[in-house]
Amino acid sequence: MNTLYYGDNLKILRKYIPDESVDLIYLDPPFNSKRAYNVIFKDKTGKYPPSQIEAFDDTWQWSDETEETMWELSKPPYSAELYSTLEAFRVALGDSDMMAYLVMMAIRLWELKRVLKETGSIYLHCDPTASHYLKIVMDQVFGVKNLKREIVWNTSDVSGFKSQAKNWIRGHDTILFYTKSNKFTFEKLYLPHKEEYIKRFRKIDEDGRRYRDDRPGKRRQYLDETPGRLISDVWSDIDSFQRRSTSKEYLGYETQKPLALLERIMEASSNEGDIILDPFCGCGTTVAAAEKLGRKWIGIDITILAINLIEKRMKEHFPDVKFEIRGIPNSLASAEKMASTREGKFRFEQWFVTTLGGQPFKSTGGGDSGIDGFMHFRDINNQSHRIIVSVKGGGYGPGAVRDLKGVVERENADMGILLALENPSKQSLTEAASSGRYQMPEVERTYPKIQIFTVEDYFKGIRPDLPDTSMTLNKAKREIRESEKPQKLGL
Ligand SMILES: C[S@@+](CC[C@H](N)C(=O)[O-])C[C@H]1O[C@@H](n2cnc3c(N)ncnc32)[C@H](O)[C@@H]1O
Repeated sequence: MNTLYYGDNLKILRKYIPDESVDLIYLDPPFNSKRAYNVIFKDKTGKYPPSQIEAFDDTWQWSDETEETMWELSKPPYSAELYSTLEAFRVALGDSDMMAYLVMMAIRLWELKRVLKETGSIYLHCDPTASHYLKIVMDQVFGVKNLKREIVWNTSDVSGFKSQAKNWIRGHDTILFYTKSNKFTFEKLYLPHKEEYIKRFRKIDEDGRRYRDDRPGKRRQYLDETPGRLISDVWSDIDSFQRRSTSKEYLGYETQKPLALLERIMEASSNEGDIILDPFCGCGTTVAAAEKLGRKWIGIDITILAINLIEKRMKEHFPDVKFEIRGIPNSLASAEKMASTREGKFRFEQWFVTTLGGQPFKSTGGGDSGIDGFMHFRDINNQSHRIIVSVKGGGYGPGAVRDLKGVVERENADMGILLALENPSKQSLTEAASSGRYQMPEVERTYPKIQIFTVEDYFKGIRPDLPDTSMTLNKAKREIRESEKPQKLGL
């Protein structure tokens, strides 16, 4: 069954993905500790909300967890060579963000090798900041002899901000292609011939076929017998969204990759019915391409926003698509179960806020306390407004409602919503109702200034009484699966 998993890919790979079960892996991990890499969308104020990275930002900074992972890597089943390589890196890099990134990647790449079939392939998409280190880690995990190609994807767009660099303009990503053994699937791919080549086939035979016979000593050559230009390891024919940010395909996800890129990788390195895995699946380009090409798929992402987006995207691309989502609540009971552990409580909060169109927020202390998320909406004058979200995964009373009122006032927000696992008491409801109504500017519409909304309501199909707080995402366009396209008649 096609499956989307919400959570850390290391844990999910270990728990759910059997040995040698996957035919092709594509991964495009984040690296940039200085920026909110996973800040996926601009919010309704047109800014990046400061809230979206907290789910995993620690993963890529040196921490106790990195130290523990390094220790784990020093023992079997991990190879001594991999550990020695990491130790050597540590001498050069110290306990830096880059080093943390490499340690966390090393253990994940090892796990990916475990789940890859003997005949499988892996494509690691990276940028020049880390590609040289990652290649050495990949050499240690998959074996130097299994490096099949380093692909350069030309993403260049020499306009705007980029062109100000006092340097050669950065214009490519690197994709490292490794296999697990020497017995692997590979289908050569071709681009159409260039016009000047086609022009060389000047003659047309009685069946209407173009040919040439101007090469001394050589037989007549038909154009339709030449398959096209073989694709090399430099790909310049697939535009990145930097080049075509107005493309209908672009959903607004910062690091979204084009479908054509993933289709190329899958057409070359997998067959119909094969299982494709993307452990950092973002807005789901890999899973969409796999569905389109008749492959089975598994996607993993640690950001609930990404999982929600993929669910929406897949249903818009393929209205009849079937897949399972694991790791997010699908009933009141599963929400209760999730919120019952310490780690789960945080995930529950993230899920509930995001599912209702908000953005989770991790308080850094000080003035932000009492805020678990924000929602935004625009009025008819296109002015942006804020709603404060507070989440209660356990018991609460009227005091919690009063606190939320206080935060709404302090933050000068327009409304507040308390998202709760448990149903409210009468007193809590009375407290909320006593806050009055919020009047939407210039329209005859009011909303509760403070409201309580429960998980039970959500699973009953009820939604909070709020203006449209959905994120400014583009709708994905309808895609046609290869198998649904009309077959060309071989006449
Ligand atoms: C660069 S984006 C991938 C973009 C993707 N190729 C696309 O076309 O949309 C990286 C993704 O990795 C996810 N991520 C980061 N750390 C993760 C982890 N430990 N486990 C699973 N996903 C993770 C982020 O949430 C983010 O969506």
